[in-house]
Amino acid sequence: MINVHLTGTGCCLPEHVLTNHDLESIVDTSDEWIRRRTGICERRIARDIENETTARLGARAALKALAMAGVQPKEIDTIVVGTVTADRQFPSAACMIQKELQITDAAAYDVSAGCSGFIFALETASNAIRVNGVRNVLVIGVERLSSILNWQDRNTCVLLGDGAGAILLQAESAPGGVLTTNIRSDGGRWDLLYAEYGPSSEPPIANMAPAKPFFLKMEGNRLFKHAVNCLSKIAIMALEKSGLTLDDISIVIPHQANMRIIRAVADKLQIDMQRFYVNLEKYGNTSSASIPIALDEANRNGLIQPGDNVLLISFGAGLTWGSALIKWTCQQDK
Ligand code: UT7
Repeated sequence: MINVHLTGTGCCLPEHVLTNHDLESIVDTSDEWIRRRTGICERRIARDIENETTARLGARAALKALAMAGVQPKEIDTIVVGTVTADRQFPSAACMIQKELQITDAAAYDVSAGCSGFIFALETASNAIRVNGVRNVLVIGVERLSSILNWQDRNTCVLLGDGAGAILLQAESAPGGVLTTNIRSDGGRWDLLYAEYGPSSEPPIANMAPAKPFFLKMEGNRLFKHAVNCLSKIAIMALEKSGLTLDDISIVIPHQANMRIIRAVADKLQIDMQRFYVNLEKYGNTSSASIPIALDEANRNGLIQPGDNVLLISFGAGLTWGSALIKWTCQQDK
């Protein structure tokens, strides 16, 4: 019997801190509005275009996860990256991270599922281990959303931030590890959150015009209700599939989009907010990076212990939503 064990976590945040007060001089907003409506106080923005690329942030997070697990980069078989902000249209962020890690013989590919990218990547990686006999897989969530934000749109630019988180998954026969993953999409509602122009939405070659900027657009208010419903439903699905109850869950790591969404999910599921790990006040919504960053912080702060059942829940553009339930076996002092 092959089980999928999580053996290391890591994260990497850009240096520059952009506070709500800083944003007051960029758009018509206030610290009070952003805190009250979202819970966000500040976020990190990648300003160093050499060292804070998607590839470099992702690689640094991955190296920390590898160090925790005591595994060398050359032992990695597969790299799966959830992102919508790869440094280039192609190659994939995963291939560029592979180069940073100096791994020459591994499969590397991206998964595009908006803010659910990390959970979709985790499902894909778990299946590679269980079905294809792969042994060591890096799963990374990384975004530089600041590069696709319209800094004149207060509806979006105050919400998002940059960063990377990573985990290492390893095939082991011992019980525990990833108990279940669940992913869902509703493409009929893609227009609630999307990038305004894609490379082929208006090909510049057809009209000889320069490519238009690539801005993120969001109907936050309508997304809010879907987020609460989908996150709650996919949490229940994880419990049903693993035969556990809410009482068995030690910690919930939700996608960090909005404190009010997280509270509404806690209310709906009737779980005490104390069992939710929240760090969005420091980083804002980092899309597919938010869950692995929070997971790494909670792990390094000693909030997750071997034997704990850890529930991850995500929601994002697509629409997409997903969950994973992990019986924690990660030892930090390997
Ligand atoms: O991560 C993937 C998925 N993302 C989500 O799930 C996000 C879900 N949505 C949300 O988190 C919230 O809907 C937002 C934080 C985006 C917005 O909060 P809201 O309570 O839904 O506000 P709203 O969009 O209904 O806007 C309320 C008011 C509007 O003014 P009027 O029309 O009432 O006069 C907005 O123009 O707040 C105004 N507003 C702002 N005011 C100050 C919108 N953005 C800002 C701002 N500063 N930054």
